[in-house]
Amino acid sequence: MKITVVGAGAVGASCAEYIALKNFASEVVLLDIKEGFAEGKAMDLMQTASLNGFDTRITGVTNDYSKTAGSDICVITSGIPRKPGMTREELIDINAKIVKEVSSRLVESSPETILIVVSNPMDTMVYLVHKTVNLPKTKIIGMGGALDSARFKYRLAEALEAPISDVDGMVIGQHSDTGMIPLTRMATRNGMPVSDFLDEERLLQVKEDTKVGGATLTRLLGTSAWYAPGAAVSVLVQAIACDQRKLIPCSVFLEGEYGMNDIAIGVPVILGRNGIEEIVEIELNEAEKEMMKQSAEAVRKVNQLLKL
Ligand SMILES: NC(=O)c1ccc[n+]([C@@H]2O[C@H](COP(=O)([O-])OP(=O)(O)OC[C@H]3O[C@@H](n4cnc5c(N)ncnc54)[C@H](O)[C@@H]3O)[C@@H](O)[C@H]2O)c1
Repeated sequence: MKITVVGAGAVGASCAEYIALKNFASEVVLLDIKEGFAEGKAMDLMQTASLNGFDTRITGVTNDYSKTAGSDICVITSGIPRKPGMTREELIDINAKIVKEVSSRLVESSPETILIVVSNPMDTMVYLVHKTVNLPKTKIIGMGGALDSARFKYRLAEALEAPISDVDGMVIGQHSDTGMIPLTRMATRNGMPVSDFLDEERLLQVKEDTKVGGATLTRLLGTSAWYAPGAAVSVLVQAIACDQRKLIPCSVFLEGEYGMNDIAIGVPVILGRNGIEEIVEIELNEAEKEMMKQSAEAVRKVNQLLKL
């Protein structure tokens, strides 16, 4: 199992570290455009191997795609992160150029690969990759919902004063401050609806805190977060590499599912060896359908900024 991570910055390095810690991959190649940067990150990470007890071999390269050849999974984290006060959508001009070039070069070297897109604005970057490379839609997967759901569970556990392991919940829709949809109606505490424990006002607060989860961290850190994003990517990579058939919300190109076409947006999918094994269509109520419609409209507006 060979995995390439493009962008050895905060998210890329964190994701490589979590993949190595889970010890399921033989090789991780980190690639960055900054001279020597990926090599340095890889060496530093490899010096944790004997301390942390993993056998995954991590190597770093400066923009040399020949070293990524034959990758089973490639993760794209290259691009600029947002600064405090910025939206993810504002990153589009710079990141679209980077993601377009990087995805083409990755697929040239690994024509059979599965691509996981992380760079923001993520749903639009998934759409762009879909229009750029010749891969089936089942092999182009956007990471956003896994992170947003983790943030949702964190906020739910906080409100419930319960351990996070007792809580389950999912976020679908656009990976953005306004477009994401935490599905409070379906969230559970050990199988019981969270609405049995939290009143409407508290649930609304959980929802709002979840939506600005990334912006809150960007304000505190001065840049975008990396631990949870890196961990979320590693969960997607492991689900595919180990054929786990895990159900995770991911951004995927839709062709009629949820009544939508020609758009990539977050919906629940089953992830396994072939990438997206299945898009799961959950029964949304009228209010949720309306939120999904507005979320899709917001994605389409950002997509229109692409120079395809
Ligand atoms: N989808 C999500 O849930 C999620 C979560 C967090 C961050 N992000 C996004 O991930 C991206 C990376 O964030 P970060 O905090 O790691 O940023 P960062 O600045 O720490 O790292 C980005 C790296 O990409 C490299 N890079 C730039 N252009 C490149 C190219 N053409 N080829 C190879 N490498 C190139 C840079 O040199 C840098 O090392 C941002 O767009 C951010 O918004 C997405």
